[in-house]
Amino acid sequence: MRSALIFSSALAALLQVAAAGVVGAAEGFAKGVTGGAGGVEVTPTTTAELISYLGDNVARTIYITKTFDFRGTEGTTSATGCAPWGTNSACQLAINQNGWCTNYQPNAPKVSVKYDNAAVLGITVKSNKSIVGVGSKGILVGKGLRLVSGAKNVIIQNIKITELNPQYVWGGDAITLNNVDMVWIDHVTTSLIGRQHIVLGNDASNRVTISNSHIDGRTSWSATCDGYHYWGILFAGSNDLVTMKNNYIHHTSGRAPKVDGNTLLHAVNNYWYDNTGHAFEIAAGAKVVAEGNVFQNIKAPVESGYAGKLFSSPSVSANAVCQSALGHVCQVNGFGSSGSLPGTDSSFFSNFGGKNVASAGTYESAKGVPTTAGFGTI
Ligand SMILES: *[C@@H]1O[C@H](CO)[C@@H](O)[C@H](O)[C@H]1NC(C)=O
Repeated sequence: MRSALIFSSALAALLQVAAAGVVGAAEGFAKGVTGGAGGVEVTPTTTAELISYLGDNVARTIYITKTFDFRGTEGTTSATGCAPWGTNSACQLAINQNGWCTNYQPNAPKVSVKYDNAAVLGITVKSNKSIVGVGSKGILVGKGLRLVSGAKNVIIQNIKITELNPQYVWGGDAITLNNVDMVWIDHVTTSLIGRQHIVLGNDASNRVTISNSHIDGRTSWSATCDGYHYWGILFAGSNDLVTMKNNYIHHTSGRAPKVDGNTLLHAVNNYWYDNTGHAFEIAAGAKVVAEGNVFQNIKAPVESGYAGKLFSSPSVSANAVCQSALGHVCQVNGFGSSGSLPGTDSSFFSNFGGKNVASAGTYESAKGVPTTAGFGTI
């Protein structure tokens, strides 16, 4: 009798943890990603344990049930950096990483910098992992996540990454992907980041879905010296397929996102709010479909004179061209106190062929995104 009771309460505890696993499923290009499903479930308690679970070759669901503070775990560095945007206290300074100040900012004033080493490089994440925050408890302070080159099948859900040397460019990236495939970033909040909130490097990152995430650009140290973070999201890959859906991106001043390389980006039902510079930057080779998004107080939804290809879903009649490639008529975007988003290029729509494409709601349906995006909301 007693052992049966113990057994049933242990089972109940187990079921509770299992119920806290990945919620929902990826839409769009990374549809079908399973992460650590079927693998070992673990709840790390120390930064060392977390690092070990993320970086081993075991399929795992890793529950984040507390704040892991990496500041101080790898020491600090005092060095000479530079002030490319001036020495006003509202301006970001730069670390001379890989000689960046010396090579690219030779005329910038030299300044002393002191930064935390842990934030500079994210935690190594290998294949077949789900990193899942529980409730609003999953917070990584002072170190981001960096998928190892070649990683496949990773889910990052319901966590917050913050305090990566926000005073300094090159102080750290929150989430780094380069040469990966099948990655789902969902309900992730990033704030107070030194460099990029999310970066897909130059190698092919293939199928990636970023959904329900919250890019919080508010900062006291900005490259535009105005309290708005410049280095939002960078997609630079040579063959990246990125779905961005239901994300909330605010208080940025540039690169939100910068789309480069040979990236195909489907940006649908996102909410952009309060940007003092540009949201999209679309370089040669990049291909973007933007539909059903809200642009509120966005000075330039796209940087003018862009060299890449953009279909901005300009009108109901023009949007019918989406039907055969995307499986639906594209949704117009909504603009409030914002600049324009001109783009009628559909010449690249065949690139959607055979891919999973996210559905699209109206831009009105995206107006609730600020309250549904980010960690702690599922
Ligand atoms: C990930 O899981 C798949 C399916 O079980 C397996 O084939 C693959 O080898 C795993 N990858 C790694 C790097 O362990």
